[in-house]
Amino acid sequence: MYKEMQPELGGYGFETPKAVLGTSSVGKQTLAEILARDGQPVPPVLQPTGDPVAVEGIIPFERYFAPEYVDLEVEHLWKKHWQIACREEDIPNVGDRLTYDVVDLSYIIVRSAPDEIKAFHNFCPHRGRRLCDHAENLENFRCPFHAWSWKLDGSLEWVPGQEDFPSVSATHHSLTEVKVGRWGGNVFINPDPNAVPFEKALGPLPKLFADHPMEDRYTVAHFRKIVRCNWKLTQEAFMEGYHVLETHWDGMPFFGSAYTQYDNWDDGDSHVNRLATPSVVPDYWVKESVSPQESAIQFCQTMGLPLPEPGTIANYTEARAWCATQRRLALEAASGHDLSDKPNSYFLEMTKCFLFPNHHPWWGEALAWWYRFLPVGRDPGLSLMEVRVTARIPKGQTPPPPPPMLELGPDERTDECEALGVVGHILHQDMANLVEIQKGMKAAPREKAFLTLARYQESNIQHFHNVYRKALGLD
Ligand code: FES
Ligand SMILES: [Fe+2]
Repeated sequence: MYKEMQPELGGYGFETPKAVLGTSSVGKQTLAEILARDGQPVPPVLQPTGDPVAVEGIIPFERYFAPEYVDLEVEHLWKKHWQIACREEDIPNVGDRLTYDVVDLSYIIVRSAPDEIKAFHNFCPHRGRRLCDHAENLENFRCPFHAWSWKLDGSLEWVPGQEDFPSVSATHHSLTEVKVGRWGGNVFINPDPNAVPFEKALGPLPKLFADHPMEDRYTVAHFRKIVRCNWKLTQEAFMEGYHVLETHWDGMPFFGSAYTQYDNWDDGDSHVNRLATPSVVPDYWVKESVSPQESAIQFCQTMGLPLPEPGTIANYTEARAWCATQRRLALEAASGHDLSDKPNSYFLEMTKCFLFPNHHPWWGEALAWWYRFLPVGRDPGLSLMEVRVTARIPKGQTPPPPPPMLELGPDERTDECEALGVVGHILHQDMANLVEIQKGMKAAPREKAFLTLARYQESNIQHFHNVYRKALGLD
């Protein structure tokens, strides 16, 4: 078992504080109160679980930069846990394949039959060559070194001069399969033959997304960016709304980040959490200086929606109703679907779920995104953030193929990338912090080198690390 650095806590000793349900501190309104004022049904994904996160130990900064953790993550996360590999739409035709790489592990994901997807360790059992290094369509697998070949189901098809290989057999030299799980148009793999069943790992997600089926959606924009910090740091920047006050101050007139609701669902097999930030409610810090009309106008300007007439919005219930209706009408016009049965919250609340270790599906149409965070090779100081923007497949139509993924290097700014629109601006605000966090953590004196997390507003990060600590067997 790896022995983590344990700073001398001195005056920092803690009991096990419990989160205060539903609000960041006394005196602030809750998401539940905001939704109650709408007078509409609350979708399951927005209902509180009543399950606060316990603090199960301190989180030393070294988890983000010590090379030992890369080894532990390979053995205990990437070889053991269900992880998202791609979307089904990335490999629509039989024979389509791509690679899913994490640290120095590599897998081939292939559509082996019209409704069958398989995954294999990406190596040749002859002399080890990687069999696939880019997305392509072929009718079989053929090693570029000596032409050994396999059918799409992984069974051995041809070995040139097989009489010279008396030990080679279909049993031992077929491709090595790994488990595949499919949910919501997403493809997951698990290299562990003894893995918990996929359905158990998903936990509540299928129920939470029943009113927002991701299999009915397609990718309209897709990009990934290399960030100069650990993959967990990049991910954690998207697990709390507490940073909005300083980092995304320009969104405060219409995003109520201080009222973000955090919950988790964890039964030991599935590790899911969620944050939900209300829109068209000014943040706590600016609530005295922004009127309902101004909040609605700024939301509509940001989302490209028609503005309310001057003097027509008297309160926040009206402001939210206006914005939700405009968003619904725009989506109905674009997709041909009737969305009139959806509550305001479906169009307004920024609702991001998390499936351990690294997948973040967003629910609803406020921000219909999809995140994945990965390490880059074995460098604990480099990570990849991958984002898809999704949309409902228009009624009666076949969606276009996914657009090519835009690749941004560590020095390329997301806010200078026209294709990303407002997403690029928000992400750039986040990126500017991340590099400096990685540096700052290394500069900390030993006795202060650990996270100090808010008991409620940063409870999703605490939940991640509780699971991480157990998964890695940390002492
Ligand atoms: S290494 Fe693949 S056929 Fe020789
Ligand atoms: Fe952010």
